[in-house]
Amino acid sequence: MRIHIEKQEQIARDAAQKYVELLNRKPEAVLGYATGSTPLGLYFELARLNREGALSFARATTFNLDEYAGLDGTHPQSYRYFMNKNLFYNIDIPIENTHVPNGINTDIAAKYDEAIEAAGGIDLQLLGIGNNGHIGFNEPGTPFGSVTHVVDLTDSTRQANARFFESIDEVPTQAVSMGIKTVMKAKSILMICIGKAKAQTVRDFILGEVTPDVPASILQLHPDVDVYLDPDAASLL
Ligand code: PGA
Repeated sequence: MRIHIEKQEQIARDAAQKYVELLNRKPEAVLGYATGSTPLGLYFELARLNREGALSFARATTFNLDEYAGLDGTHPQSYRYFMNKNLFYNIDIPIENTHVPNGINTDIAAKYDEAIEAAGGIDLQLLGIGNNGHIGFNEPGTPFGSVTHVVDLTDSTRQANARFFESIDEVPTQAVSMGIKTVMKAKSILMICIGKAKAQTVRDFILGEVTPDVPASILQLHPDVDVYLDPDAASLL
């Protein structure tokens, strides 16, 4: 695991360079994307670089980590909507090359892994981290062998995400998420953690034991992981 500690603006620039390098080397790369506040700076930077011609997504394929159960892609809080608005509509990717787990037809969840395999596997998976150590929506206790599946969201995750909804009651109780095994199959992983609220979790997943209690700790066993931390997120290392 390579740890980089940088200011937030620098993280966006450096993380974006990984996409420039990858897509110029392999224009048909398969990219795993994430939602949340953390990747927004990177997505802004990718759109800027795309506009300026530094990279093209025209032949890329994308797979997002997760989606709320019960929300379709037109719902403003769905992750499909988030990705269209914050990235896909701002870059030159054909929208049919973009994939987000189906939040309505959740019984086809496991087919998502087959689709990823059929596309050639994920070259670069972007991750954020939940306050409880989750990656995707793989909450503490999720088996490391899990593939894309329906998950029950913990109260702490629903609380953390309530800021995007009118009230906590509107936050879905379930989601569809790539499993931990799905994530670990990615050839390379790019994790970004920002802010003091993540500092203890960052310490736990980087320095603690590898345990399902801290889902992100499995990344210690992946051969190619870059972790970008701002000074606040790194403050307990
Ligand atoms: P955040 O979410 O980027 O909004 O902090 C990260 C996550 O829950 O994985």
